[in-house]
Amino acid sequence: SNKKLLVLPGDGIGPEVMRQVRRVVDWMDKRRHVSFDLQEGLCGGAAIDAHGTPLTDETMADALQVDAVLFGSVGGPKWDDLPFEQKPERGLLRLRKEMDLFANLRPAMVFPAMADASSLKRELVEGLDIMILRELTGGVYFGEPRGVETLADGTKRAVDTQVYTTPEIERVARVAFELARKRGGKVHSVEKANVMHTGVLWRQTVTKLHEAEGQGIELHHMYADNCAMQLVRYPKQFDVIVTDNLFGDMLSDCAAMLTGSLGMLPSASLGAEDPTTGRRMALYEPVHGSAPDIAGKDIANPLAELLSFAMLLRYSFDMQEDADMVETAITNVLNAGFRTADIYAPGTAKVSTTVMGDTLLRE
Ligand code: NAI
Ligand code: MG
Repeated sequence: SNKKLLVLPGDGIGPEVMRQVRRVVDWMDKRRHVSFDLQEGLCGGAAIDAHGTPLTDETMADALQVDAVLFGSVGGPKWDDLPFEQKPERGLLRLRKEMDLFANLRPAMVFPAMADASSLKRELVEGLDIMILRELTGGVYFGEPRGVETLADGTKRAVDTQVYTTPEIERVARVAFELARKRGGKVHSVEKANVMHTGVLWRQTVTKLHEAEGQGIELHHMYADNCAMQLVRYPKQFDVIVTDNLFGDMLSDCAAMLTGSLGMLPSASLGAEDPTTGRRMALYEPVHGSAPDIAGKDIANPLAELLSFAMLLRYSFDMQEDADMVETAITNVLNAGFRTADIYAPGTAKVSTTVMGDTLLRE
């Protein structure tokens, strides 16, 4: 039963960084005798050029039946003038919607050689490895009622509504416990139960699920404002942080800056579990976009895409050893002083995308 993988490189630097992942996949096939049932497809501008739509129904259907999707990045100036519904980004939005990707995973990992790129002191972040899990399809960005109205006296009044149901909270908390089991065994659930009803329900629901399904997991509750402070004060206290859409938006950007480089940030989005197979819909992608300013020059940093692939191995394919191998190779390459232009520092060796891939394969 080969694991099914759909690869969507997309536009700009997407195909350039994905090429380095494909080399690692080939290496694994040849040297470790693990092979995937791998298909490659078009998404974004590339699909618009070939088929007139950012994502065909066929590719959408493929995404729904594979074990995981590895995504590059979409968009670019060539398609900027298209109407909103036809833009490359719609391809990614359709994937997210139809796969019902409700859990967004944003790890913040600091490789020893990169600790000086952080906005914090080296000793605070060296060896940092935390995971922010953000609820992605509910909360204040979607709750009803919403809108702006003009009152009789001419005053304007804007409304957004935070709504969460127990199933929405349960499913994301369940993912948090699953992740913690494959990591450090600790979960911080973050809300503002002191001032928000959704926070009270969040805390109750997570506590109840922990009693039922959280054996062996250490659970802590923390207010979101305190969490922001703790992330900057002493981030290594965290393993998995699970929180709602709004707080997760802020806290994941804050955690990202602890690592210092856009070209090294992976992410994942997980969806519903298939009741019969237990398989979870999953899409892995770097946080960065298609970087049109550097596309076609072989200078993009492929590490965010490679780290996204390592996450895929760890969380969708349960291949811990292979995931460790990719991450260790990256650690060693950075320790040896190899850097793409975006993370270059005096005293290191500036290399191209391809040479970064060569060096990684050697490791
Ligand atoms: P961007 O992330 O593509 O680029 C921002 C800056 O970071 C640029 O200077 C770029 O050269 C640099 N950069 C990004 N990734 C890098 C890497 N791997 N190595 C070295 N340098 C890197 O964001 P921007 O410029 O706002 O958007 C460019 C295009 O990408 C737009 O069309 C946008 O819509 C699209 N985009 C797509 C995303 C996706 O596919 N998920 C996410 C964000 C933007
Ligand atoms: Mg944000």
